[in-house]
Amino acid sequence: MVPGRLKPRPAAVLDNDTEQVLCRLDDIPDGHAKGFLREHNDDRVFVVRRGGEVFAYLNSCPHNWRPLEYRHDQFLAPRGDHIVCYAHGARFRIEDGFCFLGPCTGERLIGIPVRIDNGSVVIPKTLPTPAAPA
Ligand code: FES
Repeated sequence: MVPGRLKPRPAAVLDNDTEQVLCRLDDIPDGHAKGFLREHNDDRVFVVRRGGEVFAYLNSCPHNWRPLEYRHDQFLAPRGDHIVCYAHGARFRIEDGFCFLGPCTGERLIGIPVRIDNGSVVIPKTLPTPAAPA
């Protein structure tokens, strides 16, 4: 192998009928979040990375079923230790989407099954549906 030349990485092994690749794990800086599947002005999902682990959620707050971020990819508190809905300040655990503070305390973000396959972040093509606004 030539020094400085990257060895080609194998592509993710996908079930093309049911799965989709969002990005490479390396595209999400460790300790940060990133939105995906933009539709109109909002990302439909977001992914939080902690080391080699990722957590994926619908970008829909259980308080009013609206997007969480105040600007692109801003889903986390400044210290990066939890998820924030910037509409009314609800705060959620990264690992399970549980709301521990705010107007929807005790509710959860809608999680999306996510896996890492050969360095790619993979989710199902069919996403859960957020509850209809009341
Ligand atoms: S819509 Fe998220 S806290 Fe109100």
